[in-house]
Amino acid sequence: MDTTSIWEGTSAEVGFPALSGEIEVDVVIIGGGITGITAAMLLSRAGKSVAVLEANHVGQGTTGYSTGNLYVTLADQLYHVRDKWGQETATAVAASRSETLDYLEGTVVEFNLPCRFDRRPHYIFPTHDSQVEKMQREYETLRDAGQPASLTREVPLPFPVDQALKIDRQAQFHPLIFVQSLAKSIASDRCRIFEDSKVVEIDDDQRVVRTAGGQVRAEKIILATHMPIGFHLVQTEVFPYREYGLALRLKGDSYPEGIFWTFEQPSHSIRSYEADGTKYLIVIGELHKTGQHDDLEDYYAKVEAYARSRFDVERVEFRWSAQHYRPADELPYIGRSSTTKDTYLATGFGTNGLIYGPLAAAIIADDICGRENRWADLYNSRRFTPAKSAKEFLKENANVAAQYAKDYLSRADVERLGEVPRGEGRMAELDGEMLAVYRDENGEWTVLSPVCTHLGCIVHWNGWEKSWDCPCHGSRFRTDGEVIEGPAIAALAKKAIRD
Ligand code: FES
Repeated sequence: MDTTSIWEGTSAEVGFPALSGEIEVDVVIIGGGITGITAAMLLSRAGKSVAVLEANHVGQGTTGYSTGNLYVTLADQLYHVRDKWGQETATAVAASRSETLDYLEGTVVEFNLPCRFDRRPHYIFPTHDSQVEKMQREYETLRDAGQPASLTREVPLPFPVDQALKIDRQAQFHPLIFVQSLAKSIASDRCRIFEDSKVVEIDDDQRVVRTAGGQVRAEKIILATHMPIGFHLVQTEVFPYREYGLALRLKGDSYPEGIFWTFEQPSHSIRSYEADGTKYLIVIGELHKTGQHDDLEDYYAKVEAYARSRFDVERVEFRWSAQHYRPADELPYIGRSSTTKDTYLATGFGTNGLIYGPLAAAIIADDICGRENRWADLYNSRRFTPAKSAKEFLKENANVAAQYAKDYLSRADVERLGEVPRGEGRMAELDGEMLAVYRDENGEWTVLSPVCTHLGCIVHWNGWEKSWDCPCHGSRFRTDGEVIEGPAIAALAKKAIRD
């Protein structure tokens, strides 16, 4: 299945070189998404020399698979932050996100980035009477936070919606063009950006980062990889989930104006976007923990059925899936690593990363430059909040432990390589050893160890995206074993073929 996102399908790669040889800079940033490129801009402006190492192409990791929505509230609703931390914290979260949204708009204007940044009203509506109370709580939290929220019965959708929470002056943009064109604008001798430069080793003590083609020595290291790669305590406090998106063409021209979410759980989001003169309806929904999906369930088909039941759909143009990490206590982790003083990380954004990413970049850049940042304590990566995170922490880590136990006791799908269907992956037990086997369309097999190179969980086959996904901390591997996304750094071990 082609899983090109609408953002990839409506943009062109920029084309930066791969790292070769040795260089020395003030700051090395691992990851060329919205967090890494914004941090590179802020640091190079402050006079620091910077190198960005992107494993693939700028913006084509999580940013290029995101929603393109920019909003002050949170996808899981801000009132949960109020319930856990109090209104003052909820107000600070909304203010920090609002400030960052304005900053992004200013950046688009300043650099003249062709990413179609548009302010839009944002509606969140209940789909059942049982959700009306949630709407009221979210409204009160936003109102008390000073945000432009109101309740309305005017909801511009082509199907009946009785009422909604409306938040004015939210926004949408093309996230991939934002990052690509910003990277192009800031690239210079002091801000060097490298693509196809996958990090294979980080020496925190020596502050050296190595790729296959070279190495960067730096005073500071920023892990802007969504989930920090390598081993970090914070990996036990954020939990990987995947969600599914479609961009569809409608038969008529009734593309809704605005951004629409539902209060149901898991929720759906609906909006339209115009790229290269073509309008699309974007619908996002369905949710499961990474590597813990039901093989029989077609999540894309469920999103498509949701869209077709509400709109006059002509065809599906793009379909994609994206990963996000939910934090145990509702807030992301931004700042210094708990183990090394010169390494910074930013994770636990949930699906709110298009704003949390640049916000993290600003907090980290300020710390490196010795400047105060008024949001730094709010999102402190070294915080210890057992009273607020214990419930989720215990539930999610019990889930991780259960995956270890279940997978190490589980049976293989097949006993012979020949039983693996073409274009599919299966777990096979050969000579008493459990193996992850992929058979391509030509009938050729790739046999790998199924043991995740991060902390040893067993990977699961993801048939929609043709990848091996780890259910513990969300590492994903290609069919040849190479890492798609971390925290794992090393590829799955290759095994000899025997049948
Ligand atoms: Fe941690 Fe696989 S991602 S064990």
